[in-house]
Amino acid sequence: MTAPKKLFVKTYGCQMNVYDSERMVEALGESGYVETDTPEGADMILLNTCHIREKAAEKVYSELGRLKALKLDNPDLKIGVAGCVAQAEGREIMRRQPAVDLVVGPQSYHRLAELEARAQTGKKAIDTDFPEEDKFEKLKSRPKAKRAPAAFLTVQEGCDKFCAFCVVPYTRGAEVSRPVDRILQEARELVERGVREITLLGQNVNAYHGTGHDDTEWSLARLIWALDKVDGLERIRFTTSHPNDMTDDLIEAHGTCSKLMPYLHLPVQAGSDKILKRMNRSHTRESYMRLIERIREARPDILLSGDFIVGFPEETEEDFEATLDLIRTVRFGQAYSFKYSTRPGTPAAERDQLPEDIKTERLHRLQNLLAQQQKSIQDEMVGKTVNVLLEREGRFAGQMVGKSEYLHAVHVNTETAKVGDICQVRITQSNRNSLNGDLIS
Ligand code: 5AD
Ligand code: SF4
Repeated sequence: MTAPKKLFVKTYGCQMNVYDSERMVEALGESGYVETDTPEGADMILLNTCHIREKAAEKVYSELGRLKALKLDNPDLKIGVAGCVAQAEGREIMRRQPAVDLVVGPQSYHRLAELEARAQTGKKAIDTDFPEEDKFEKLKSRPKAKRAPAAFLTVQEGCDKFCAFCVVPYTRGAEVSRPVDRILQEARELVERGVREITLLGQNVNAYHGTGHDDTEWSLARLIWALDKVDGLERIRFTTSHPNDMTDDLIEAHGTCSKLMPYLHLPVQAGSDKILKRMNRSHTRESYMRLIERIREARPDILLSGDFIVGFPEETEEDFEATLDLIRTVRFGQAYSFKYSTRPGTPAAERDQLPEDIKTERLHRLQNLLAQQQKSIQDEMVGKTVNVLLEREGRFAGQMVGKSEYLHAVHVNTETAKVGDICQVRITQSNRNSLNGDLIS
Protein backbone atom coordinates (compact mmCIF):
# COMPACT_ATOMS: atom_id res chain seq x y z
CA MET A 1 0.00 0.00 0.00
CA THR A 2 1.21 3.49 -0.78
CA ALA A 3 1.21 6.07 1.99
CA PRO A 4 -1.73 8.49 1.81
CA LYS A 5 -1.00 11.82 0.18
CA LYS A 6 -1.18 14.86 2.40
CA LEU A 7 -3.57 17.73 1.82
CA PHE A 8 -3.20 21.14 3.44
CA VAL A 9 -6.19 23.48 3.17
CA LYS A 10 -6.02 27.10 4.27
CA THR A 11 -9.44 28.70 4.65
CA TYR A 12 -10.08 32.44 4.45
CA GLY A 13 -13.33 34.32 5.02
CA CYS A 14 -16.79 33.22 5.97
CA GLN A 15 -18.36 30.11 7.46
CA MET A 16 -19.50 29.04 4.02
CA ASN A 17 -15.85 28.67 3.10
CA VAL A 18 -15.28 26.60 6.25
CA TYR A 19 -18.10 24.30 5.15
CA ASP A 20 -16.75 24.15 1.58
CA SER A 21 -13.25 23.33 2.84
CA GLU A 22 -14.63 20.39 4.86
CA ARG A 23 -16.42 19.10 1.73
CA MET A 24 -13.22 19.49 -0.34
CA VAL A 25 -11.20 17.54 2.22
CA GLU A 26 -13.80 14.76 2.08
CA ALA A 27 -13.86 14.80 -1.73
CA LEU A 28 -10.09 14.56 -2.03
CA GLY A 29 -10.15 11.87 0.68
CA GLU A 30 -11.65 9.66 -1.99
CA SER A 31 -8.59 10.40 -4.17
CA GLY A 32 -6.34 9.15 -1.36
CA TYR A 33 -5.59 12.36 0.56
CA VAL A 34 -5.54 12.87 4.31
CA GLU A 35 -5.62 16.32 5.83
CA THR A 36 -2.48 17.78 7.41
CA ASP A 37 -2.16 21.00 9.38
CA THR A 38 1.06 22.37 7.90
CA PRO A 39 1.92 23.27 4.31
CA GLU A 40 5.42 21.83 4.75
CA GLY A 41 5.44 18.21 3.60
CA ALA A 42 2.02 18.45 1.92
CA ASP A 43 1.42 16.91 -1.52
CA MET A 44 -1.39 19.29 -2.28
CA ILE A 45 -2.05 22.78 -0.94
CA LEU A 46 -5.42 24.41 -1.45
CA LEU A 47 -6.11 28.03 -0.59
CA ASN A 48 -9.85 28.51 -0.13
CA THR A 49 -10.02 32.24 -0.66
CA CYS A 50 -12.34 35.13 0.14
CA HIS A 51 -12.87 38.22 -2.00
CA ILE A 52 -15.26 40.20 0.15
CA ARG A 53 -12.91 42.96 1.24
CA GLU A 54 -9.84 44.83 0.15
CA LYS A 55 -6.57 43.37 -1.07
CA ALA A 56 -7.90 39.82 -0.92
CA ALA A 57 -6.36 38.91 -4.25
CA GLU A 58 -3.04 40.57 -3.37
CA LYS A 59 -2.86 38.59 -0.12
CA VAL A 60 -3.45 35.38 -2.05
CA TYR A 61 -0.69 36.23 -4.52
CA SER A 62 1.81 36.92 -1.77
CA GLU A 63 0.85 33.68 0.02
CA LEU A 64 1.34 31.83 -3.28
CA GLY A 65 4.73 33.49 -3.68
CA ARG A 66 5.77 32.02 -0.31
CA LEU A 67 4.27 28.57 -0.92
CA LYS A 68 5.93 28.25 -4.31
CA ALA A 69 9.28 27.68 -2.54
CA LEU A 70 7.94 24.39 -1.15
CA LYS A 71 8.00 23.02 -4.70
CA LEU A 72 11.80 23.03 -4.49
CA ASP A 73 11.65 20.38 -1.73
CA ASN A 74 8.80 18.47 -3.29
CA PRO A 75 8.58 18.81 -7.09
CA ASP A 76 5.35 16.76 -7.03
CA LEU A 77 3.58 19.30 -4.82
CA LYS A 78 0.41 20.66 -6.41
CA ILE A 79 -0.94 24.08 -5.49
CA GLY A 80 -4.59 25.00 -5.97
CA VAL A 81 -6.69 28.11 -5.47
CA ALA A 82 -10.39 27.75 -4.63
CA GLY A 83 -13.09 30.16 -3.47
CA CYS A 84 -14.13 33.62 -4.53
CA VAL A 85 -10.69 34.93 -5.57
CA ALA A 86 -10.43 31.89 -7.86
CA GLN A 87 -13.82 32.80 -9.29
CA ALA A 88 -12.98 36.47 -9.74
CA GLU A 89 -9.45 36.07 -11.14
CA GLY A 90 -9.79 32.78 -13.06
CA ARG A 91 -6.93 31.96 -15.40
CA GLU A 92 -5.20 35.22 -14.47
CA ILE A 93 -4.01 33.46 -11.29
CA MET A 94 -1.97 30.95 -13.30
CA ARG A 95 -0.60 33.72 -15.48
CA ARG A 96 0.57 35.76 -12.49
CA GLN A 97 1.75 32.75 -10.50
CA PRO A 98 2.77 29.86 -12.75
CA ALA A 99 3.35 27.63 -9.70
CA VAL A 100 -0.46 27.29 -9.43
CA ASP A 101 -1.67 23.97 -10.87
CA LEU A 102 -5.37 24.17 -10.16
CA VAL A 103 -8.04 26.90 -10.01
CA VAL A 104 -11.56 26.03 -8.93
CA GLY A 105 -14.51 28.38 -8.35
CA PRO A 106 -17.04 27.85 -5.52
CA GLN A 107 -19.64 26.27 -7.80
CA SER A 108 -17.31 23.60 -9.17
CA TYR A 109 -16.04 21.75 -6.10
CA HIS A 110 -17.76 18.54 -7.15
CA ARG A 111 -15.24 18.44 -10.00
CA LEU A 112 -12.27 18.72 -7.67
CA ALA A 113 -11.16 15.07 -7.91
CA GLU A 114 -11.19 15.31 -11.71
CA LEU A 115 -9.25 18.56 -11.63
CA GLU A 116 -6.73 17.06 -9.20
CA ALA A 117 -6.22 14.08 -11.54
CA ARG A 118 -5.60 16.48 -14.41
CA ALA A 119 -3.12 18.47 -12.34
CA GLN A 120 -1.27 15.21 -11.56
CA THR A 121 -0.58 14.76 -15.28
CA GLY A 122 1.28 18.07 -15.25
CA LYS A 123 -1.47 20.02 -16.99
CA LYS A 124 -3.13 23.15 -15.64
CA ALA A 125 -6.63 22.44 -14.32
CA ILE A 126 -9.28 25.17 -14.14
CA ASP A 127 -13.04 25.32 -13.63
CA THR A 128 -14.91 28.50 -12.75
CA ASP A 129 -18.26 27.67 -14.36
CA PHE A 130 -21.66 28.15 -12.76
CA PRO A 131 -23.30 24.78 -13.46
CA GLU A 132 -26.97 24.13 -12.74
CA GLU A 133 -26.42 21.04 -10.58
CA ASP A 134 -26.17 20.80 -6.80
CA LYS A 135 -22.46 20.54 -6.12
CA PHE A 136 -23.06 19.28 -2.57
CA GLU A 137 -25.12 16.35 -3.84
CA LYS A 138 -22.18 15.39 -6.07
CA LEU A 139 -19.79 15.96 -3.20
CA LYS A 140 -21.67 13.66 -0.89
CA SER A 141 -19.14 11.40 0.68
CA ARG A 142 -19.18 8.14 2.54
CA PRO A 143 -17.09 8.88 5.63
CA LYS A 144 -19.03 8.30 8.79
CA ALA A 145 -16.34 9.57 11.12
CA LYS A 146 -17.47 11.26 14.32
CA ARG A 147 -17.97 15.01 14.10
CA ALA A 148 -17.75 17.86 16.57
CA PRO A 149 -21.14 18.64 18.19
CA ALA A 150 -21.71 21.88 16.25
CA ALA A 151 -21.68 21.81 12.44
CA PHE A 152 -22.43 24.02 9.45
CA LEU A 153 -24.77 23.03 6.67
CA THR A 154 -25.00 25.14 3.51
CA VAL A 155 -28.60 25.42 2.30
CA GLN A 156 -28.43 28.38 -0.06
CA GLU A 157 -25.75 30.12 -2.06
CA GLY A 158 -25.36 33.29 -4.03
CA CYS A 159 -27.27 36.53 -3.90
CA ASP A 160 -29.53 38.61 -6.13
CA LYS A 161 -29.54 41.73 -3.97
CA PHE A 162 -26.62 43.62 -5.53
CA CYS A 163 -25.75 45.90 -2.64
CA ALA A 164 -23.61 48.59 -4.24
CA PHE A 165 -20.47 47.64 -2.26
CA CYS A 166 -20.58 43.85 -2.53
CA VAL A 167 -18.89 41.30 -4.81
CA VAL A 168 -20.94 38.30 -3.70
CA PRO A 169 -23.51 38.43 -6.53
CA TYR A 170 -20.57 38.34 -8.95
CA THR A 171 -18.34 35.75 -7.27
CA ARG A 172 -20.99 33.39 -5.88
CA GLY A 173 -23.52 34.07 -8.60
CA ALA A 174 -27.31 34.09 -8.57
CA GLU A 175 -29.25 32.88 -5.58
CA VAL A 176 -29.79 29.11 -5.51
CA SER A 177 -31.47 27.03 -2.78
CA ARG A 178 -30.80 23.33 -2.20
CA PRO A 179 -33.79 20.98 -2.17
CA VAL A 180 -35.35 20.24 1.23
CA ASP A 181 -34.85 16.46 1.13
CA ARG A 182 -31.11 16.68 0.60
CA ILE A 183 -30.76 19.10 3.49
CA LEU A 184 -32.81 16.89 5.80
CA GLN A 185 -30.80 13.84 4.79
CA GLU A 186 -27.52 15.66 5.41
CA ALA A 187 -28.83 16.86 8.77
CA ARG A 188 -29.77 13.29 9.79
CA GLU A 189 -26.33 12.07 8.76
CA LEU A 190 -24.68 14.80 10.79
CA VAL A 191 -26.75 13.81 13.84
CA GLU A 192 -25.70 10.16 13.38
CA ARG A 193 -22.13 11.39 13.47
CA GLY A 194 -22.59 13.15 16.80
CA VAL A 195 -23.78 16.61 15.76
CA ARG A 196 -26.32 18.28 18.08
CA GLU A 197 -26.33 21.82 16.70
CA ILE A 198 -26.59 22.82 13.04
CA THR A 199 -26.06 26.31 11.64
CA LEU A 200 -27.77 26.67 8.29
CA LEU A 201 -25.58 28.73 5.99
CA GLY A 202 -26.21 30.94 3.01
CA GLN A 203 -25.09 34.36 1.79
CA ASN A 204 -28.76 35.22 1.95
CA VAL A 205 -30.03 32.33 4.01
CA ASN A 206 -33.45 33.74 4.83
CA ALA A 207 -34.19 34.08 1.11
CA TYR A 208 -34.16 30.26 1.11
CA HIS A 209 -36.83 28.87 -1.21
CA GLY A 210 -35.84 25.25 -1.87
CA THR A 211 -38.18 22.68 -3.34
CA GLY A 212 -39.89 20.39 -0.84
CA HIS A 213 -40.99 16.76 -1.42
CA ASP A 214 -44.46 18.15 -2.18
CA ASP A 215 -42.92 20.06 -5.12
CA THR A 216 -43.73 23.43 -3.58
CA GLU A 217 -41.22 26.08 -2.57
CA TRP A 218 -40.42 25.97 1.11
CA SER A 219 -39.46 29.01 3.17
CA LEU A 220 -36.56 28.92 5.61
CA ALA A 221 -39.08 28.79 8.47
CA ARG A 222 -40.70 25.68 7.02
CA LEU A 223 -37.28 24.06 6.64
CA ILE A 224 -36.49 24.91 10.27
CA TRP A 225 -39.75 23.28 11.41
CA ALA A 226 -38.83 20.13 9.47
CA LEU A 227 -35.39 20.12 11.12
CA ASP A 228 -37.09 20.63 14.46
CA LYS A 229 -38.51 17.11 14.04
CA VAL A 230 -35.09 15.49 13.52
CA ASP A 231 -34.48 13.44 16.66
CA GLY A 232 -31.14 14.07 18.28
CA LEU A 233 -30.76 17.51 16.71
CA GLU A 234 -31.09 19.91 19.61
CA ARG A 235 -30.17 23.33 18.26
CA ILE A 236 -30.74 25.20 15.01
CA ARG A 237 -29.18 28.48 13.90
CA PHE A 238 -28.95 30.26 10.57
CA THR A 239 -26.78 32.97 9.04
CA THR A 240 -26.56 35.44 7.19
CA SER A 241 -29.91 37.15 6.76
CA HIS A 242 -31.15 40.18 4.86
CA PRO A 243 -33.74 42.39 6.63
CA ASN A 244 -36.08 42.28 3.63
CA ASP A 245 -36.33 38.50 3.80
CA MET A 246 -37.36 38.31 7.47
CA THR A 247 -40.76 36.85 6.70
CA ASP A 248 -43.59 36.60 9.25
CA ASP A 249 -43.23 32.82 9.59
CA LEU A 250 -39.52 33.18 10.35
CA ILE A 251 -40.09 35.87 12.97
CA GLU A 252 -42.79 33.72 14.53
CA ALA A 253 -40.53 30.66 14.60
CA HIS A 254 -38.18 32.59 16.87
CA GLY A 255 -40.95 32.66 19.44
CA THR A 256 -42.35 29.16 18.97
CA CYS A 257 -39.61 26.78 17.81
CA SER A 258 -37.71 25.68 20.89
CA LYS A 259 -34.76 24.32 18.91
CA LEU A 260 -34.23 27.65 17.14
CA MET A 261 -31.64 29.51 19.21
CA PRO A 262 -32.26 33.10 20.39
CA TYR A 263 -29.53 34.67 18.27
CA LEU A 264 -29.94 36.53 15.00
CA HIS A 265 -27.33 38.01 12.70
CA LEU A 266 -29.18 40.70 10.79
CA PRO A 267 -26.81 43.13 9.05
CA VAL A 268 -28.05 46.69 8.65
CA GLN A 269 -24.75 48.19 7.33
CA ALA A 270 -25.66 51.83 8.06
CA GLY A 271 -28.17 53.98 9.93
CA SER A 272 -28.79 56.82 7.50
CA ASP A 273 -31.52 56.47 4.89
CA LYS A 274 -29.46 58.39 2.34
CA ILE A 275 -26.56 55.94 2.67
CA LEU A 276 -28.85 52.88 2.76
CA LYS A 277 -30.36 54.05 -0.49
CA ARG A 278 -26.95 54.65 -2.07
CA MET A 279 -25.96 51.17 -0.87
CA ASN A 280 -29.00 49.78 -2.68
CA ARG A 281 -30.06 48.04 0.54
CA SER A 282 -33.79 48.44 -0.21
CA HIS A 283 -34.70 48.84 3.45
CA THR A 284 -34.81 51.98 5.55
CA ARG A 285 -33.73 52.76 9.06
CA GLU A 286 -37.40 52.83 10.07
CA SER A 287 -38.24 49.47 8.46
CA TYR A 288 -35.20 47.89 10.14
CA MET A 289 -36.17 49.30 13.54
CA ARG A 290 -39.74 48.08 13.13
CA LEU A 291 -38.42 44.64 12.22
CA ILE A 292 -36.24 44.52 15.33
CA GLU A 293 -39.27 45.43 17.44
CA ARG A 294 -41.30 42.59 15.94
CA ILE A 295 -38.48 40.08 16.41
CA ARG A 296 -38.14 41.14 20.04
CA GLU A 297 -41.89 40.83 20.54
CA ALA A 298 -41.60 37.23 19.34
CA ARG A 299 -38.48 36.46 21.37
CA PRO A 300 -37.67 39.15 23.98
CA ASP A 301 -34.28 37.71 25.01
CA ILE A 302 -32.91 37.33 21.46
CA LEU A 303 -29.29 38.44 21.01
CA LEU A 304 -28.86 40.59 17.93
CA SER A 305 -25.76 40.78 15.81
CA GLY A 306 -24.99 42.89 12.75
CA ASP A 307 -22.54 44.05 10.10
CA PHE A 308 -21.58 47.70 9.65
CA ILE A 309 -19.70 49.57 6.97
CA VAL A 310 -18.25 53.00 7.74
CA GLY A 311 -16.89 55.50 5.25
CA PHE A 312 -19.14 54.51 2.36
CA PRO A 313 -18.97 57.13 -0.44
CA GLU A 314 -20.86 60.34 0.46
CA GLU A 315 -21.14 59.42 4.16
CA THR A 316 -21.16 62.69 6.11
CA GLU A 317 -20.52 63.06 9.83
CA GLU A 318 -24.29 63.35 10.23
CA ASP A 319 -24.87 60.08 8.33
CA PHE A 320 -22.29 58.37 10.48
CA GLU A 321 -23.94 59.72 13.64
CA ALA A 322 -27.18 58.16 12.41
CA THR A 323 -25.42 54.77 12.37
CA LEU A 324 -24.19 55.30 15.94
CA ASP A 325 -27.66 56.33 16.95
CA LEU A 326 -29.20 53.20 15.42
CA ILE A 327 -26.67 51.07 17.30
CA ARG A 328 -27.53 52.81 20.58
CA THR A 329 -31.23 52.21 19.99
CA VAL A 330 -30.97 48.54 18.98
CA ARG A 331 -28.19 47.35 21.36
CA PHE A 332 -26.19 44.67 19.57
CA GLY A 333 -24.71 41.77 21.53
CA GLN A 334 -22.22 41.06 18.79
CA ALA A 335 -21.14 42.75 15.55
CA TYR A 336 -18.70 42.91 12.68
CA SER A 337 -17.61 46.27 11.34
CA PHE A 338 -15.50 47.35 8.42
CA LYS A 339 -14.13 50.36 6.62
CA TYR A 340 -15.64 50.58 3.19
CA SER A 341 -13.20 49.25 0.61
CA THR A 342 -13.66 49.48 -3.14
CA ARG A 343 -14.37 46.22 -4.92
CA PRO A 344 -13.64 46.42 -8.65
CA GLY A 345 -16.75 45.86 -10.74
CA THR A 346 -19.21 47.03 -8.05
CA PRO A 347 -21.15 50.32 -8.49
CA ALA A 348 -19.79 52.07 -5.39
CA ALA A 349 -16.20 51.57 -6.54
CA GLU A 350 -16.80 54.17 -9.26
CA ARG A 351 -17.87 56.89 -6.81
CA ASP A 352 -15.80 59.55 -5.06
CA GLN A 353 -14.12 57.98 -2.04
CA LEU A 354 -13.74 59.32 1.49
CA PRO A 355 -10.23 59.96 2.84
CA GLU A 356 -8.72 56.99 4.67
CA ASP A 357 -8.17 58.90 7.92
CA ILE A 358 -11.87 59.71 8.19
CA LYS A 359 -12.76 56.05 7.67
CA THR A 360 -10.24 55.00 10.31
CA GLU A 361 -11.48 57.51 12.83
CA ARG A 362 -15.15 56.54 12.31
CA LEU A 363 -14.40 52.84 12.51
CA HIS A 364 -12.64 53.44 15.79
CA ARG A 365 -15.63 55.29 17.27
CA LEU A 366 -18.09 52.70 15.98
CA GLN A 367 -16.07 49.79 17.32
CA ASN A 368 -15.74 51.43 20.73
CA LEU A 369 -19.51 51.74 20.96
CA LEU A 370 -20.07 48.16 19.76
CA ALA A 371 -17.49 46.82 22.22
CA GLN A 372 -19.19 48.64 25.11
CA GLN A 373 -22.57 47.22 24.16
CA GLN A 374 -21.21 43.73 23.71
CA LYS A 375 -19.56 43.86 27.12
CA SER A 376 -22.58 45.27 28.92
CA ILE A 377 -24.92 42.67 27.41
CA GLN A 378 -22.39 39.99 28.39
CA ASP A 379 -22.15 41.41 31.93
CA GLU A 380 -25.94 41.14 32.27
CA MET A 381 -25.56 37.36 31.92
CA VAL A 382 -23.76 37.08 35.28
CA GLY A 383 -26.02 35.32 37.79
CA LYS A 384 -28.25 33.90 35.06
CA THR A 385 -28.58 30.25 34.10
CA VAL A 386 -27.89 29.32 30.49
CA ASN A 387 -27.74 26.08 28.52
CA VAL A 388 -24.28 25.32 27.18
CA LEU A 389 -23.41 22.86 24.43
CA LEU A 390 -19.94 21.65 25.35
CA GLU A 391 -17.69 21.70 22.28
CA ARG A 392 -14.20 20.96 23.61
CA GLU A 393 -11.99 20.64 26.64
CA GLY A 394 -10.67 23.89 28.08
CA ARG A 395 -7.10 24.92 28.67
CA PHE A 396 -7.20 23.96 32.35
CA ALA A 397 -8.02 20.63 33.98
CA GLY A 398 -11.67 20.38 34.99
CA GLN A 399 -12.73 22.98 32.44
CA MET A 400 -14.83 22.62 29.28
CA VAL A 401 -15.70 25.22 26.66
CA GLY A 402 -19.00 25.53 24.86
CA LYS A 403 -21.63 27.92 23.56
CA SER A 404 -24.70 29.29 25.28
CA GLU A 405 -27.95 29.57 23.35
CA TYR A 406 -26.93 33.22 22.74
CA LEU A 407 -23.67 32.06 21.13
CA HIS A 408 -21.53 33.34 23.98
CA ALA A 409 -18.41 31.25 24.54
CA VAL A 410 -18.69 29.82 28.06
CA HIS A 411 -15.92 28.23 30.15
CA VAL A 412 -17.54 25.70 32.44
CA ASN A 413 -16.01 24.20 35.56
CA THR A 414 -16.88 20.49 35.54
CA GLU A 415 -15.13 17.20 36.19
CA THR A 416 -17.95 15.05 34.85
CA ALA A 417 -19.53 16.56 31.73
CA LYS A 418 -18.23 15.60 28.30
CA VAL A 419 -18.07 17.02 24.79
CA GLY A 420 -21.54 17.00 23.22
CA ASP A 421 -23.42 17.42 26.51
CA ILE A 422 -25.88 20.28 26.84
CA CYS A 423 -25.84 21.39 30.44
CA GLN A 424 -27.28 24.07 32.64
CA VAL A 425 -24.65 26.52 33.76
CA ARG A 426 -24.83 29.43 36.17
CA ILE A 427 -22.74 32.33 34.86
CA THR A 428 -20.27 33.61 37.44
CA GLN A 429 -18.02 35.95 35.47
CA SER A 430 -17.92 38.03 32.30
CA ASN A 431 -14.54 38.29 30.56
CA ARG A 432 -13.59 40.31 27.51
CA ASN A 433 -14.90 37.81 24.96
CA SER A 434 -16.31 34.96 27.00
CA LEU A 435 -18.16 33.97 30.15
CA ASN A 436 -17.27 31.65 33.03
CA GLY A 437 -19.79 29.48 34.81
CA ASP A 438 -20.46 26.54 37.11
CA LEU A 439 -22.34 23.42 36.20
CA ILE A 440 -25.66 23.13 37.99
CA SER A 441 -27.02 19.98 36.41
N1 5AD B 1 -16.23 47.04 2.02
C1 5AD B 1 -16.38 46.85 3.35
N2 5AD B 1 -17.16 45.89 3.87
C2 5AD B 1 -17.81 45.08 3.02
N3 5AD B 1 -18.65 44.05 3.24
C3 5AD B 1 -19.02 43.54 2.05
N4 5AD B 1 -18.44 44.23 1.05
C4 5AD B 1 -17.69 45.20 1.63
C5 5AD B 1 -16.87 46.24 1.13
N5 5AD B 1 -16.71 46.44 -0.17
C6 5AD B 1 -19.08 43.63 4.57
C7 5AD B 1 -20.59 43.83 4.76
C8 5AD B 1 -21.12 42.41 4.70
C9 5AD B 1 -19.97 41.65 5.30
C10 5AD B 1 -19.97 40.19 5.02
O1 5AD B 1 -18.82 42.25 4.74
O2 5AD B 1 -20.82 44.40 6.02
O3 5AD B 1 -22.33 42.25 5.42
FE1 SF4 C 1 -23.65 41.15 -0.59
FE2 SF4 C 1 -25.32 40.48 1.42
FE3 SF4 C 1 -25.89 42.59 -0.16
FE4 SF4 C 1 -26.06 40.08 -1.12
S1 SF4 C 1 -27.32 41.01 0.53
S2 SF4 C 1 -25.14 41.83 -2.17
S3 SF4 C 1 -24.34 39.08 -0.06
S4 SF4 C 1 -24.13 42.37 1.25
